[in-house]
Amino acid sequence: MSTPAAQHAPGRTPDGRIAARARALTKAYGSGETAVLALDAVDVDIARGRFTAVMGPSGSGKSTLMHCLAGLDTVSSGRVWLGDTEITGLRERELTRLRRDRVGFMFQSFNLIPTLTAAENITLPMDIAGRKPDARWLDLIVDTLGLRDRLAHRPAQLSGGQQQRVACARALASRPELIFADEPTGNLDSRAGLEVLGFLRGAVDDLGQTVVMVTHDPGAAARSDLVLFLADGRIVDEMARPTAEAVLERMRVVPGGDPRPPRFDAVRGRPRDGRTDEEG
Ligand SMILES: Nc1ncnc2c1ncn2[C@@H]1O[C@H](COP(=O)(O)OP(=O)(O)O)[C@@H](O)[C@H]1O
Ligand SMILES: [Mg+2]
Repeated sequence: MSTPAAQHAPGRTPDGRIAARARALTKAYGSGETAVLALDAVDVDIARGRFTAVMGPSGSGKSTLMHCLAGLDTVSSGRVWLGDTEITGLRERELTRLRRDRVGFMFQSFNLIPTLTAAENITLPMDIAGRKPDARWLDLIVDTLGLRDRLAHRPAQLSGGQQQRVACARALASRPELIFADEPTGNLDSRAGLEVLGFLRGAVDDLGQTVVMVTHDPGAAARSDLVLFLADGRIVDEMARPTAEAVLERMRVVPGGDPRPPRFDAVRGRPRDGRTDEEG
């Protein structure tokens, strides 16, 4: 899993172009005795035009990291930028516009509107925003995702994989700077999952998009350019040009090995006060 030092700067592209950046990003839920530290002073750079995977045990802060990077959630402290725009400190109206115009989302549950056709679902966010989709771009993503003959179908008439492809097209429709996908293959069988991963990979390679994807699946992570490993609200490691085997190996906890092993078996949600054993 070790990579040369040059590859080890998180998400650094050769020309240094960064799609999103966080510095000392800290997010606590609740307060006092029951406070949970979901993110603990995270520094991260997400490279533009790359496919970044985020892995870690349940409760390690993966979704919180995505939500904070995307301006879906406020931070407790620290700073976040989308491109050159610092989003920490933006007012809610500006944040809403930024999310709408510059960010795309895919979720584990596809979140499609059942009464709308695939075509209507794909353009819904832009319709709500009163923006006219770029017809040529829309054509390109519909064809890239193989949805041409499914556009008139409603979600219930589509397979899970097709529904997630519609959600992928919806995320891509406004040509966002950054696409966040939170376990996009989590509800799919392995074949449909592979298909969706292939399309995300294609969105990066062929359409020049930037994708950040949370996944539990080493095989899915292996399709990315860089894997960030989260544990206890911190980025504890990263792996460039991952393979499924190397990711699996990395996730294995070796008792008594590394003095600060990533606790992939750890259960999150401990009170903040209980963290003393892991500080260091
Ligand atoms: N809205 C919330 N209120 C309180 N605690 C939360 C909330 N959202 C997440 N958490 C806690 O923050 C930690 C990180 O959660 P999350 O980012 O969802 O983890 P992951 O996506 O890696 O499973 C967990 O301990 C979780 O219980
Ligand atoms: Mg999550």
